[in-house]
Amino acid sequence: MSEPIIGNVMSGRTEVFVVCQADAIERSGAVSVSLSQIDDGASAGRFIVVRTFGNDYFGYVNRCPHESVWLNIGCGACFSADRSFLRCGWHGARFEIETGVCIDGP
Ligand code: FES
Repeated sequence: MSEPIIGNVMSGRTEVFVVCQADAIERSGAVSVSLSQIDDGASAGRFIVVRTFGNDYFGYVNRCPHESVWLNIGCGACFSADRSFLRCGWHGARFEIETGVCIDGP
């Protein structure tokens, strides 16, 4: 069994969440999660965790900077056709997986 993926959210304090087992995400795959506090139901937000083909993991807030929609809006996919970039499902902006930098799109 692999180690769990831990989310670390900065919102004035450090919050730690177990997202899933690391091997639950296939290589060149991703999971989108919505995190909430159990005690009061307050949302900590939506996140996306990406596992690269090279076996690195990257986590981002799942929100396109263009119109603040989820990257996987629409068909649920969050990658370019060749899975080399994260891709917004609304207008097609593309982002580097390793940095989150937008390289194409509005
Ligand atoms: S909302 Fe993502 S590219 Fe426009």
